[in-house]
Amino acid sequence: METDVKIVEVGPRDGLQNESRPLSATVKARLIADLADAGLREIEAASFVSARGVPQMADSGSVMELAPRLPHVRYRALVPNARGMEAAIEARVDEVAVFASASEEFSRRNINCNIDESFERFAPVIAMAKTVNLPVRGYLSCAFGCPYEGKVSDHAVVAAARRLLEIGCYEVAVSDTIGIAGPGDVRRLLASLAGEIDKGDTALHLHDTRGQALANVLAGLDAGIRTFDSSVGGLGGCPFALGATGNLATEELVYLLESLGLATGIDLPRLAAAGLRIAAELGKRGDSRVARALMVSGSLPSINAEGLEASASPDNTVRQTATHTTGAVS
Ligand code: HMG
Ligand code: MG
Repeated sequence: METDVKIVEVGPRDGLQNESRPLSATVKARLIADLADAGLREIEAASFVSARGVPQMADSGSVMELAPRLPHVRYRALVPNARGMEAAIEARVDEVAVFASASEEFSRRNINCNIDESFERFAPVIAMAKTVNLPVRGYLSCAFGCPYEGKVSDHAVVAAARRLLEIGCYEVAVSDTIGIAGPGDVRRLLASLAGEIDKGDTALHLHDTRGQALANVLAGLDAGIRTFDSSVGGLGGCPFALGATGNLATEELVYLLESLGLATGIDLPRLAAAGLRIAAELGKRGDSRVARALMVSGSLPSINAEGLEASASPDNTVRQTATHTTGAVS
């Protein structure tokens, strides 16, 4: 189905990387299957980073092995360096993403190097991606503010965004890591970026710490942005950005877009059910208000193991034997 807006579902990665309750690879793979079943076509499913840095993502290889692969769904992964790229290739992902920061201190805390060094590490990743024809996305964290340095200049954001495109990223995900932006900030920064970067090469990755994410989407749409990241159930957070809460909930994003007459191709009740199921696995209520409203009105389908198996391809079914779990962060 043709859609007016591209939604990049980051729940299995950004959503789960900060959760303290360990989940098995099977549960994570089932989430990915549920999301595909609900109509998501772009799913950030894994992250090949240091297990010491982000223990929750340590089983990404197993998750990718267990997740059913549908031909019309693109399974993406985060990679910080050449080693991560090797793992991503082995896991047969469809796309990778490198992640840079517009703030020096966040870069050091997140990936243990300064901004210049991070670009040196990305060079072999891009070279390897080219040899196997994998598109590379570039995240730009702290585009609206940094948990350590506070305000980040538009100049720094524009410079880093241009650099990501120059090294070979096809798109820059301008990221509000700590959910500090309001629509005025989004409008201003996108105007600064517009002179330098094609809006078709820009995506918005919004965390909802201050409840501004939906308003920020509207500001993004007004500025011509058509790619938005979100996380089912509003899960999410970065272990290196203290105080930052979840991503914009995919359910809320879909509700907003559909109400504007923009096609998303997503089955909202199925998506909401998927979000409530993973929230239950995490011992949480789930942060999507749209999902709760659908539940209260009795509009949710029940997503069960049979539904999952039906969505798996015959040669790559979800095996229930994997029990590997990740550790927990304090
Ligand atoms: P380093 O310490 O500079 O590098 O880490 P190193 O080469 O010295 O490696 C350190 C350890 O990591 C070693 O293990 C390596 O073997 C291992 P140890 O000897 O200590 O046991 N290692 C790896 N293991 C698995 N896969 C790899 C890999 N590379 C090294 N690829 C490094 C540099 C980047 C690896 C590390 O700092 C790291 O992994 N950090 C985690 C960063 C992260 O995942 N952050 C969260 C995601 S970013 C995010 O959420 C923001 C985003 O959502 C946008 C937004 O909202 O802003 C994208
Ligand atoms: Mg994020």
